[in-house]
Amino acid sequence: MSSTVHTSTIDQLKAAPMRILMCAPHHYEVDYVINPWMEGNIHRSSRDRALEQWTQLYQVLQKYAQVDLVEPQPGWPDMVFTANAGLILGDTVVLSRFFHPERRGEEQYFHKWFADQGYTVHLLPNSLPFEGAGDALMDRAGGWLWAGYGFRSELDSHPYLAEWLDVEVLSLRLVDRRFYHLDTCFCPLTDGYLLYYPPAFDTYSNRLIELRVPPEKRIAISEADAVNFACNTVNIDRIVVMNKVSEGLNQVLADRGFTVVETPLTEFLKAGGAAKCLTLKVIEPHRESPQLSTIQTKIIHLEGHLLDSGLVNRVLDTIVTGGGSFQVVSFNLGNQRQDTSLAEVKVSAPDAAVMAEIMAQLIDLGAIDAAETVPASLAPVTQTGVAADDFYATTIYPTEVLVGNQWVKVQDQRMDGAIAVTQTSAGIIARCKLLRDLQIGESVVTGSEGIRTKRKIPTLKKNTEEFSFMGAGVSSERRVELVVEKIAWDLRQIRDRGGKVVVTAGPVVIHTGGSKHLNQLIREGYVQALLGGNAIAVHDIEQSLMGTSLGVDMQRGVSVHGGHRHHLKAINTIRRCGSIAQAVEQGVLTSGVMYECVKNHVPFSLAGSIRDDGPLPDTKMDLIAAQADYARLIAGADLILMLSSMLHSIGVGNMTPAGVKMVCIDINPAVVTKLSDRGSIESIGVVTDVGLFLSLLVQQLNKLTGQYQR
Ligand SMILES: NC(=O)c1ccc[n+]([C@@H]2O[C@H](COP(=O)([O-])OP(=O)(O)OC[C@H]3O[C@@H](n4cnc5c(N)ncnc54)[C@H](O)[C@@H]3O)[C@@H](O)[C@H]2O)c1
Repeated sequence: MSSTVHTSTIDQLKAAPMRILMCAPHHYEVDYVINPWMEGNIHRSSRDRALEQWTQLYQVLQKYAQVDLVEPQPGWPDMVFTANAGLILGDTVVLSRFFHPERRGEEQYFHKWFADQGYTVHLLPNSLPFEGAGDALMDRAGGWLWAGYGFRSELDSHPYLAEWLDVEVLSLRLVDRRFYHLDTCFCPLTDGYLLYYPPAFDTYSNRLIELRVPPEKRIAISEADAVNFACNTVNIDRIVVMNKVSEGLNQVLADRGFTVVETPLTEFLKAGGAAKCLTLKVIEPHRESPQLSTIQTKIIHLEGHLLDSGLVNRVLDTIVTGGGSFQVVSFNLGNQRQDTSLAEVKVSAPDAAVMAEIMAQLIDLGAIDAAETVPASLAPVTQTGVAADDFYATTIYPTEVLVGNQWVKVQDQRMDGAIAVTQTSAGIIARCKLLRDLQIGESVVTGSEGIRTKRKIPTLKKNTEEFSFMGAGVSSERRVELVVEKIAWDLRQIRDRGGKVVVTAGPVVIHTGGSKHLNQLIREGYVQALLGGNAIAVHDIEQSLMGTSLGVDMQRGVSVHGGHRHHLKAINTIRRCGSIAQAVEQGVLTSGVMYECVKNHVPFSLAGSIRDDGPLPDTKMDLIAAQADYARLIAGADLILMLSSMLHSIGVGNMTPAGVKMVCIDINPAVVTKLSDRGSIESIGVVTDVGLFLSLLVQQLNKLTGQYQR
């Protein structure tokens, strides 16, 4: 086998029906690991068998095409995979910029070969990886270029391809490490057919493929075929040359008029390549197609303790999992430990919709769009209670919007609202509003431009602390004691400075015998508002009036005969009195959590639900009014203690802005995680029995009081 370079001119190339570039495997070897296929295969390939298999492929292809050869070079074992030399269209080549240093040395040899052939060679910026025809394949019917990104090629290289090759580029994101190049899982075939493995792409890319390729032309292959590199196929007219084909796929292809030629390439599979990787079509006729790239780019700024907090990782992960790609333009670490870092990151997304989605999440993480001069987009409210489709959904973090040339602080910050902007005589007002509260005459902020959130960047690696006590698995009593000590200290501080603590509580507080402790907290001035539902009040009153909670005797822990009706009797008694406060006033209710609230002037709000019995006269069955009442009592809180009520705690969490410390106690770790995982560093979750927690808390507060008295 000769491996000399066959030189020919561009004109000759154009005249030939099909020409392919290959490189003999004289120096082929699995020398390093740069993809999952190489793992465990270092020095495991046989050069003799590789040469035999390569020669067989070469001979097969010679039947259908003219095959050119580029001289293999010692030290560059992967040069055999000529698909990664560059991308050719007409007489233009975009030379590859390899992602891994292990392959960068190949670039000069391929560059020389292209230049010798008379191609116009375009060079990408040094820092912009793109791996040639391994990651860019012309559609055989549509005249556009499918370009992959995610592992080896950067999304940012795609606009260069569109410009230099004068072609429409459709970007596809690869998500399975085994299919690290587009040509390992995607192969456009003659007449617009497409052989591909859908799970190798993200949802957005699959949608794009489905939009462009009609169902009857799509041939989705199985994983078994995909791992045999069935997509890594050389297609010449109706011939498809591949390593191995299953019976089923063979039939599918035959039904569509394709003949499969199998030629084993197992030695090359050890390096993650097969037929297509070993070839480069050097003739790609240039068809007229509009030069188009929908790729969007933006620069964002990040500031804070970026490394300590893990924020940089979260930002970069958010970009990639959102379907975009990034380049860190600059990273200034600061000089001292206490200095904050500053990073500038270029974000790219395949189109405007994906960019908007990514940007919304980055803004939540505290990123600032560097183009801060672009004001927020505003859309008028044209129907009461309804916002424009792409309205910006708010978070718990303090937010500002750029209206005209003025940054306006958003008032009433809460989660899951819209930002309503109004022009008043006092100036521009921006306010977080629930959708239902939007009014005609207001405008809502849409998209992600002109919005910035200020979040306190945590210095901890983990943004929430979760303590497990009685939950299955870890039982670290000492850790719960430590966190209780901390909460007791906070409660003491807040009370002493005249701050505000709001308690959200479910009926479990009563069932677990926690009420006597909660009573003490209320009496001693540690609670400034109580939020709950019908149940906490009903069971508390039942216990006060009849000594049972849900019919169980709280002293003896046994069910009382007829006790299941006790809570109804309790409701009936309060209804007769007119309200809980009147029951206290009339001397009917003389103890318990609700009694302490009334006696100590601690406001409470009971929000109704569909499962409520009665309800008590105080329970607000108009949920919009109940939400408003909760919001009124939450305003100005320093700390919210959430005691075993998933329903009310989540409701409260959503309406609480960042900066308010939240402590969630629940026996179910999932509830604790949901509440403490709002990205707020102020959240603490404790997985434990609420009765036990309250008893420890009171003990700790008593200890503190003792210390003070001593
Ligand atoms: N008779 C009634 O009117 C009645 C009775 C029950 C509930 N409700 C209503 O139903 C709604 C939801 O009630 P909810 O708040 O009780 O239920 P919920 O499901 O919202 O919350 C109960 C939470 O308590 C946790 N929990 C259970 N045992 C625990 C323990 N020993 N220690 C710590 N956490 C524990 C659970 O994991 C759960 O997250 C409320 O509006 C309530 O008023 C009404």
